[in-house]
This record gives sequence, C-alpha cells and structure tokens, in this order.
Amino acid sequence: MSILDRLRGRGISRPHLIPEIGSDSEPALRFAEADRHAPEPPAHAPSARPAARSRGGLVEIRGVHKSFGDLEVLRGIDLQIAPGSVTAVLGPSGSGKSTLLRTINHLETLDQGLISVDGEVIGYRREGDLLHELPEREVLHQRTAIGMVFQSFNLFAHMTALQNVTEAPRRALGVPARQAEARARELLALVGLSDKADVYPRQLSGGQQQRVAIARALALEPKVLLFDEPTSALDPELVEEVLAVIRSLARAGTTLVIVTHEISFARDVADTVVFMDQGLVVEQGPPSRVIDHPAHERTRSFLQRVRTGTEDPDPRPAPAPASPVRQPVSGAAPERTAPPGDLAGVGSSHPPVIGADQATSRTPLPRHHSEDHS
Ligand SMILES: Nc1ncnc2c1ncn2[C@@H]1O[C@H](COP(=O)(O)OP(=O)(O)OP(=O)(O)O)[C@@H](O)[C@H]1O
Ligand SMILES: [Mg+2]
Repeated sequence: MSILDRLRGRGISRPHLIPEIGSDSEPALRFAEADRHAPEPPAHAPSARPAARSRGGLVEIRGVHKSFGDLEVLRGIDLQIAPGSVTAVLGPSGSGKSTLLRTINHLETLDQGLISVDGEVIGYRREGDLLHELPEREVLHQRTAIGMVFQSFNLFAHMTALQNVTEAPRRALGVPARQAEARARELLALVGLSDKADVYPRQLSGGQQQRVAIARALALEPKVLLFDEPTSALDPELVEEVLAVIRSLARAGTTLVIVTHEISFARDVADTVVFMDQGLVVEQGPPSRVIDHPAHERTRSFLQRVRTGTEDPDPRPAPAPASPVRQPVSGAAPERTAPPGDLAGVGSSHPPVIGADQATSRTPLPRHHSEDHS
C-alpha cells in the first residue's frame, strides 16, 4: 500500500482501466457540440467574461469508475462537455452527482477511466501505459483552471469578502496585490456586492456569501466552473439572486457544470441536461427533451418527485458552518475542511500533502493491470 493510500485510508488501489487518449473509441454518450463559439455576454454583465484565459474548456470524461469501499458510486461515466457550454446534472440523492463533479477537479481519485480538460489529463501524468498520480502542487495548479462552488459556500471566515476573492489569485498565481484587488472589486460588482467588499462572511446573508464564493471562483479565471447544488443551502427567498448570477455567467466563455435540483432553472439555462441514477448517466440531451420529454421512466419519476416535492433534494444534515481555519488556494474551497496549517490538502477531502512520493500512485493504462500498489 502506498503512503498516499494509507493516508487516505483506502487500502490497495484498484486496477485502473482507461480508454486510450486519442483513440478512435468514442465516449458511449456524447454531448451535442453546444456553443463552441460563445456569444458576447449581455450588456448588463460586462465583466461576466472573466478574462482572456478563460475561454471555456472542453471536458472529456471517459469510462470513469469510482468506489468508496464496496460501494461503487460511479459505474462507467462517459461525457463530453463542449467548451463554453452549460450542463445541468440532475439525479436522485446518492446517484453520484457530487462525486462526479469532484472527480473533474481531482478532489476524488479515479479507480478507472480518465478525465481531461482541453486534452490535459486531470490528476495524472501518463507514462507509457500507466497513469501516475500527480504531486499535490501540480493538482493544485490544474485546479486553478477548474473552479468549484459548493453548497455550503466555504468562505474563509476570517477574511473580508474582498480578501476571499483576492486570496487565490495572489497565492496561487502570484498576481500583485493591487491588480488582484482591482479585479476582485470588478467581480464583486459582477455579483452585485460592490458595497460588501470589506465585510466578513458572518455579516452576509447566505445568498450574499454564495455570491462571494462565485466571485472567488471566477477570480482564477477558470476554464471550467463546477457548481454543486449552489442554492440548496439557501432560504427560498435567496435562491433567485444566486441563480441570476449563474445565469449571467452562462455562455460568457467559461464551461459551466451545475448539479442542481432547480428544474426550471436547468431548463432555462442549460444546453444539456444529464440525468444520473445509481452511478450511471441514464440520459442526456437538451432540456426540451430530457426535462420535457424524458425517454426513461427513471427520469420521469424523478422529475415527478421533484415537482411534487417528494424528492428530498438534500436528506443529509445541514452542513456545518464555515470553518475559520485557513484554507486553500486552489480554485476550489473544501467541502470538508482541512486541519490547521494544511494548505496543500485543502480544497479536497484528501489528507495533507505527502510530497512527490504521491507520484507513485500508479494506475494502468489502458488495461487492467495486476500491479500491487503496496
Ligand atoms: N467520501 C466518501 N466516502 C464514502 N462514501 C461516500 C463518500 N462520498 C460519497 N459517498 C457515497 O457515495 C454515494 C454518492 O454520493 P454523492 O454525494 O456523489 O451523491 P449525490 O448524487 O451528490 O447525492 P445528493 O443529491 O444527496 O448530494 C452516496 O451513497 C454517498 O454516501
Ligand atoms: Mg451531492
């Protein structure tokens, strides 16, 4: 067992089956080529296009499997998400939506398969027919291009709204303070919070905190922005202000992937709706088909349950308040917080960084491999 595996408490790594990059094999399910040429952002959201770097990224998910112990949570996910498109992921609780999102920026490792953004494999380095897990610092660097907004905001409690937004560009990208601050003010204006730059998260409503979290994610000019139920921790009257901000980002360049139970929002904003159940993509397509004319009974009954309020969008206990612990400099803030002093492990459920030795976490490519990772 590798040190990494021991720290993660995962036991021996499973063999890792990954489709050849650039092979002829197409993903079993494929997105329409949505909106490769993103139109200009609306006039009322001039800063919605974060910056030159953040043209949307092409996200390719191939044959992804993920288990926690004996529970196989992702059972072979294939998706291709077009640059600049908006994808809404729907599905019952426990179907693997969050896990899928977390694999996209390597907050979770993969047991099989491969995820790439603009052709760059996320979380792994390819060497011959093996994939080696990247050292944490390289993963953190990759995450600067893949932002994430969580249900529970995860703002740095000891920093003002402005500091929350400037932190990652300053520390992860080395942006000079003045420049980072100027951009942060623009982003706070974009999310409607110009007047809240100098207040602390505890002085903000949930909707305002989530808008700061969105500004923070945008500050790294991500190619891809992942939202995991961004409104489900909010009081109903605060939901719309956050959805409005997300709407303003749609087709402004960045590729958006949004896990949500807001069906009408998904219908309005998404190019593609993906319905997941039991670790599989049951169907995907434009909202007019998947939401209005679903092909599968499972989709129909899920939508019916959501509409009648009998699908509980979040049966788990309410998330704990944001930790005051100093936290990460990645595009993503942690859903589960890290111990004090741990900067490298933040942004993930992973334990603290263990250094370059991580690269020895190897996964075979492209076939099953019997190597023991001990
Ligand atoms: N770190 C983990 N360790 C063990 N099991 C986990 C872990 N993370 C998720 N799971 C399990 O994996 C399954 C899928 O979880 P996931 O959070 O991806 O579901 P979801 O579709 O996002 O559900 P929800 O709508 O409730 O957020 C669940 O059974 C969950 O308990
Ligand atoms: Mg979830």
